[in-house]
Amino acid sequence: MYEAFYGFKENPFSLTPDPKYFFFRKDHEEALSHIIFAIKQGEGFILLVGGVGTGKTTISRVLIERLGNFLYTSLILNPFLTETELLSSILWDFNVIPSGTTKKELIDQLNKFLLNEVAPSGKRALVIIDEAQNLSLEVMEQIRLLSNLETDKEKLLQILLIGQEELAKKLSNPLLRQLNGRISTRYFLSPLRKKEVKEYIEHRIRIAEPRVKIKFTKGAIKEIYKFSKGIPRLINMICDRALLAGFVKGSTTIEKSMVKKAKRSLVGEKEKKFEKIVSGKKGIKGLLSLFKRKSIIDFKIS
Ligand SMILES: Nc1ncnc2c1ncn2[C@@H]1O[C@H](COP(=O)(O)OP(=O)(O)O)[C@@H](O)[C@H]1O
Ligand SMILES: [Mg+2]
Repeated sequence: MYEAFYGFKENPFSLTPDPKYFFFRKDHEEALSHIIFAIKQGEGFILLVGGVGTGKTTISRVLIERLGNFLYTSLILNPFLTETELLSSILWDFNVIPSGTTKKELIDQLNKFLLNEVAPSGKRALVIIDEAQNLSLEVMEQIRLLSNLETDKEKLLQILLIGQEELAKKLSNPLLRQLNGRISTRYFLSPLRKKEVKEYIEHRIRIAEPRVKIKFTKGAIKEIYKFSKGIPRLINMICDRALLAGFVKGSTTIEKSMVKKAKRSLVGEKEKKFEKIVSGKKGIKGLLSLFKRKSIIDFKIS
């Protein structure tokens, strides 16, 4: 909506996990190099955990971009699947048309592909499972069994599990003890620190190539941090609205008041309700009911 006003080539704060916008702050860079190292070492299981919107999916895209030539990759984005659906998806991603329908047939087919095509090529085969906290226990167990596919020298299939904090909790379930024990690399991704927020915003704006100089004032950045707690997804959401507020005012300097306006437009209605309940008679019970229905936190991070 405001792209033409600032002369952007595209929206700088879109919510897609576009590797082009990747900001190499220390934690993200570290996560990426840990994962790349683990893949090159041939480790069977790698885990990347972080809160919603911290940049996990983006890291997986950058990883594929970086290692694309060195890898056969399968990217599983919908983990609500059965064991046979999982196996078929992996085969399709590896450009193998599943010929069987039973678990055994599919595993045999996968094994054949890994032995006959992947192993001689010197490349590696990686299955990335995003939102892995949603996998059922049965599918998790199946995934563990897949990592048994190996030659006498090395693992044939490597698995990168990506998920929210619940994933780490889920893995501590005694039923998943064996899988948990096999995870050799674990990385916990944290939100941006206060001082990284400004650089992040400037970085994304630069990539979108505006034709005018855009400035976020110190007060604006402080307000963005207060709202987002450094979570990139929330930073994108509020910056997008703040740029809109700047456009409405005809200003290329984004001030605190515009960020506040942006914040109100994002959570305004929810917040009003929140304040009314806190100050009203319903007190803490009313507050709890608000959180139960669709919490402010859910709203912000979903
Ligand atoms: N390091 C980063 N550099 C640039 N943008 C990022 C970074 N981390 C996250 N983002 C942006 O934040 C948003 C949410 O990131 P995403 O990878 O979808 O988070 P998650 O998968 O952890 O929920 C996306 O728009 C993404 O482009
Ligand atoms: Mg994601």
